[in-house]
Amino acid sequence: MSALSFSKISASLNALLAAIGLLTVAALTTPDMSGQTRLILEVLLAGVWAAYVLQLIETLFMQRTREARGSALETTVDVLAVLVPMVAFLFVRGRDQSLFCAVWLLKPLRGSTFFRLLGRVLSKEARNLIGVTSIFCIVLFGAALAAYIIERDAQPDKFGSIPLAMWWAVVTLSTTGYGDEIPQSFAGRILAGLVMMSGIGIFALWAGILATGFYEEVRRQDFVRNWQLVAGVPLFQKLGSGALIEIVRALRPRVVPAGGIICRKGDAGDQMYFIVEGRVSVATPSPVELGTGSFFGEMALISGEPRSATVSAATEVSLLSLYSSDFQMLSSSSPEIADIIRRTALERRGGTPKT
Ligand code: CMP
Repeated sequence: MSALSFSKISASLNALLAAIGLLTVAALTTPDMSGQTRLILEVLLAGVWAAYVLQLIETLFMQRTREARGSALETTVDVLAVLVPMVAFLFVRGRDQSLFCAVWLLKPLRGSTFFRLLGRVLSKEARNLIGVTSIFCIVLFGAALAAYIIERDAQPDKFGSIPLAMWWAVVTLSTTGYGDEIPQSFAGRILAGLVMMSGIGIFALWAGILATGFYEEVRRQDFVRNWQLVAGVPLFQKLGSGALIEIVRALRPRVVPAGGIICRKGDAGDQMYFIVEGRVSVATPSPVELGTGSFFGEMALISGEPRSATVSAATEVSLLSLYSSDFQMLSSSSPEIADIIRRTALERRGGTPKT
């Protein structure tokens, strides 16, 4: 069991498994399929189901041994992915049996950070979204009412009641325009134009609220993560709260696997790096290793000259990078830290550091 760790299979592999299962379900709805092809597809479905059984067993096992955060949704999805097809297999006869495997549509929700992010954005923007939805409902009802009054005599079969006119209002407000119901009168056409333009405005508002919500949430998450990383670099502990907020916004996190090249000798350098965790190796004539809390890449940044040495990750290393424009900001908000960086650059170059 531990050799094949299903709970650890990556999100993309999980999505691939669900995609194979769902495509098989779709293929099985094709009429006039030969018995042999059908059998192969059903075996494929059984294979995906078996993988999900193993995944469920491991999810339940892991829950007993560790405190799994956010595992309630994962467990529910895993249980449904196994139970629903099994119940269908036992109690449903005929071609519809395989349709129940469509419950695997829920699998991408499992462990997905995106859906968690979406949930937070929706809950944060709920007030605004409800506001725009209310406008949508008001315009929808108003459009159906106006269309009913204007068109009911000319087209009683399509606009003879407000509920009937509501279909036209939805199709027009969403700018879908199936064309199955068209106002005949001049006033009706003016109304249709106004409803379409209102629809475009309302959808733009929805899109704007969601886009802003996503942007702010992602920025907030980046800020919180950077804040925690910055706490691991002693140099920044000298900063006041205002400068700290500025530097947290300016730094970009990056993880380099062991052996990865971070910068090459001779390249232009427009950023420097702070080591949050791990070690890097500097390929100077007598190689040097730098560890947690140290920084490098400052020489090219300050002098504008090419990189003086190749720097690679000796272990997996977590870095924060600072671009030259942001280094100027650091220099003015915290000259003390900028001075330490400049003096270190001078020492490494073999010059005499300023005192
Ligand atoms: P830079 O020249 O931008 O890129 C390579 C980096 O390696 C350099 O900046 C320094 O940060 C670092 N480096 C160069 N020489 C030494 C040294 N002798 N000791 C420690 N770090 C060094």
